[in-house]
Amino acid sequence: MNVAKCSPEAITELLRNPLPLRLARGEDLNVLRPVQYLGNKQRSLGVILSAIEDLVSQGDAVFDLFSGTSVVSQGLTALGLKVSAVDVSTACCAMAQATLGVGRSNWMGSPSEMISSWQQASASPYEELTSKFAPWIGLEELALQARDGKALISAGQRVPQVWRTEGAESNLLRLFSTWNDAALLGSQRSLALLSPVVAGSYLGIEQAVTVDARRKAITEMVERGEIDGWQSSVMITALLAATSKAAYSPGKHFAQPHRTDASKNLNFHSGRALADRSVDIATTAEEFVRLLFRRPRPEQASEVLQMPVNEINADELKSRNVHLVYADPPYTAQQYSRFYHVLDTLALGVPHPLQIYRGAVTSGLYPNGRYFSPFCSKRQATPAFEELATTCYDAGATMVLSYSTSANGSTGNQRMISLDELCKIFFEVYGSAAVEVRELAHGYRQFNSGDSARPSRDDPEVLLIAHAA
Ligand SMILES: C[S@@+](CC[C@H](N)C(=O)[O-])C[C@H]1O[C@@H](n2cnc3c(N)ncnc32)[C@H](O)[C@@H]1O
Repeated sequence: MNVAKCSPEAITELLRNPLPLRLARGEDLNVLRPVQYLGNKQRSLGVILSAIEDLVSQGDAVFDLFSGTSVVSQGLTALGLKVSAVDVSTACCAMAQATLGVGRSNWMGSPSEMISSWQQASASPYEELTSKFAPWIGLEELALQARDGKALISAGQRVPQVWRTEGAESNLLRLFSTWNDAALLGSQRSLALLSPVVAGSYLGIEQAVTVDARRKAITEMVERGEIDGWQSSVMITALLAATSKAAYSPGKHFAQPHRTDASKNLNFHSGRALADRSVDIATTAEEFVRLLFRRPRPEQASEVLQMPVNEINADELKSRNVHLVYADPPYTAQQYSRFYHVLDTLALGVPHPLQIYRGAVTSGLYPNGRYFSPFCSKRQATPAFEELATTCYDAGATMVLSYSTSANGSTGNQRMISLDELCKIFFEVYGSAAVEVRELAHGYRQFNSGDSARPSRDDPEVLLIAHAA
């Protein structure tokens, strides 16, 4: 095995002369990326897998820490590995369960049967919700028929919400009151989940109602014992995919919807509103169910662990005989929980009270009590990486860590830890002779598409590999 010895001083040189990595394997990697997700590794998956393939044998147990969209986990299962996907996000865990086939039974039904049961179960909640939002859905439909993006935006700005109740009739106010009670109790009892919060902003009004009706149907089908854990994760993942596709925001995240105040030239936004609000949630979700059914059943049983990575200890890795740990943590101060809270709420099926800042809801409509990752904190990142490196070393596992460096002069988001600092940690824990750094061919997408952040696709992406003794 070719292990490059490197000191912090040698890293700059090494990045100028990247170690040869085999190019992405020609075969179709056959992975599904359910949602648009910042920092997902779909583009670099081929090279990541090539590097890992040299370090493992068929049937080895591996961890995919910070599994996100699960594309890396899917790639690892395609290598014949036994994968444990770990992420703190409920949406990410649903996606991993669905794509990895965790708990997939030998149920003989077809996707068409599942889709048809889902349609039937969502018919009544859909009817009830549409009747409550009827005048607003009517306005939205007229605007869509007339291809009038500005009227569409205006309908979205006027629809009553739990945080903006003006103009709400009594039946809508009752819906909001049930939503508020459920949010306070953390219960799944509310008929509406997203529509009282994001209808007219991130989603169209009819789209939000469809998502809610479909999500309610899943809860009820689980309660009636009609679907198992894997089937419910398939439907949830399909809804996540449709919601992501329809999201009316830059980059399809949920940090903030497109800003559409009257002072702006709305031509761009009108076009986007027409395109995004035209996404048919039900059809898109149903197509995704079919795609998930087509995924191969992995040879090795995988698992999904919804937990903070920093709570994993060496004994847990040892008990599973983990040979290799791949990790793709966040490196900037931007919390994923800020960007994907709508997907997490949807996956959980429980409304959250909204965060109030200076007497008002936030422009991103964030829920209270979002998760804050230590990896996104300048103060906590170093100790968090030290702990992670030590845990993996103590368990006798090789570690493969993705890192994206900030290109020279890039004004993009600052990293919480530099590559030098990261290498130092791994040199100390694994010994410098056991650590190598490889540069991948292309760059990383920045979190922000705002003015201050460059579209720094040329920020080099790196793999740090620490070999177990
Ligand atoms: C860069 S993304 C991972 C992308 C993923 N490899 C993919 O290809 O889609 C980082 C992920 O880390 C998760 N995360 C952040 N802090 C975490 C923590 N302390 N424990 C577990 N997951 C965490 C986020 O929810 C997010 O999904």
